[in-house]
Amino acid sequence: MRRTHWPHSGTIEERMVQEDAAPPEDQGGRSPQSPPWNPFSRPARGSAPMFHVEPSVAAPTGDAMTRVEAGDAAAVWDGRGEADETAPGVDATPGAGSDAVRRFPRARLLAVANQKGGVGKTTTAVSLAAALAERGAEVLLVDMDPQANASSGLGLRPADDQATIYHALVTDVAITDVIVPTPYPGLSFVPSSIDLAGAEVELVSAFSRERRLKKALATIQDRFDVVLIDCPPSLGLLTVNALTAADGVIVPIQCEYYALEGLTALRHNVELVRANLNTGLDITGFVLTMLDGRTRLSRQVAEQVRAHFGERVFRSRIPRSVRLAEAPSFAQPITVFDPSSRGAMAYRRLASELLTRLERQLASERSSGA
Ligand SMILES: Nc1ncnc2c1ncn2[C@@H]1O[C@H](COP(=O)(O)OP(=O)(O)OP(=O)(O)O)[C@@H](O)[C@H]1O
Ligand SMILES: [Mg+2]
Repeated sequence: MRRTHWPHSGTIEERMVQEDAAPPEDQGGRSPQSPPWNPFSRPARGSAPMFHVEPSVAAPTGDAMTRVEAGDAAAVWDGRGEADETAPGVDATPGAGSDAVRRFPRARLLAVANQKGGVGKTTTAVSLAAALAERGAEVLLVDMDPQANASSGLGLRPADDQATIYHALVTDVAITDVIVPTPYPGLSFVPSSIDLAGAEVELVSAFSRERRLKKALATIQDRFDVVLIDCPPSLGLLTVNALTAADGVIVPIQCEYYALEGLTALRHNVELVRANLNTGLDITGFVLTMLDGRTRLSRQVAEQVRAHFGERVFRSRIPRSVRLAEAPSFAQPITVFDPSSRGAMAYRRLASELLTRLERQLASERSSGA
């Protein structure tokens, strides 16, 4: 294995085998904002299960990031994407390419996974799902995390009597009875709740416990183009279920000093699942998140990740952006909360890049007769 020197000490390989040690999370600043608005009206698919919308929470303002990004919020959206040297040729205009989205005959299932906490899994899953739907894909986002951050971030926390992913995994409830519509055209959602924390224990002696999600999702693959699964920060049974169901894995990597630690374990698990449960599993790509172009460390980490994983790293990088951190408290994806923000643009570019990768994969599968 090539030995690449890390910015501070040791090599990437040495750091990759060290224990995970997640640094304190940067929650970003928050600023007051007008109440959530919904530019879309969307007919419900069939009878919609009950769900309620979380009240918005506006947190105090005034930190450095809020001030830096105030320009983003004030910017008048002129309908054009900003230039991005990291992903040339990718159009980040809202809705751009909608007509060009080729419908997949069978949904591509992608797990958004990294057992490291707070690296941007949920932000990526929610934002990417919304950006893909905006581009014309039919998307299902599945919340597989008992923390249910995707559910609250979309304002779709389940009511007490509502079925969730827990019921689809542990009981006989059909996944079709768990899917809820969202206010955003093309985006459907499977909520989670804290009950899911018990699923790992309850499924211990269950038959085929690693294949529960795969089995549940098999029935709806012809209804969607892309299914994104937001995984919890662990390599336990819930993540194994996601990896067993998935065609590919999207791995968010936070641009900070400990970025690569734990990736060896994640890749090992992907290998184990591929060898034993899902021969079709592959890593679709690594996404650099929370990139702060102003800091040398952030740029160095991005360079080192690229040097290590090469073309597997998406060219679209996600900047550290207070608007991305704020969006969940207003129960909206970034593409709706602040369509012209850098974060929204970055996730649109990622969506375009991902669609291109998936289409290439499909073409090569077809040509090889898979
Ligand atoms: N690009 C970004 N810029 C600024 N803040 C961000 C960005 N991406 C995520 N965040 C914030 O960082 C925190 C962690 O992000 P997120 O919840 O997406 O990570 P996660 O990997 O899903 O966490 P967990 O492992 O707990 O599930 C959240 O407060 C989120 O709002
Ligand atoms: Mg999460």
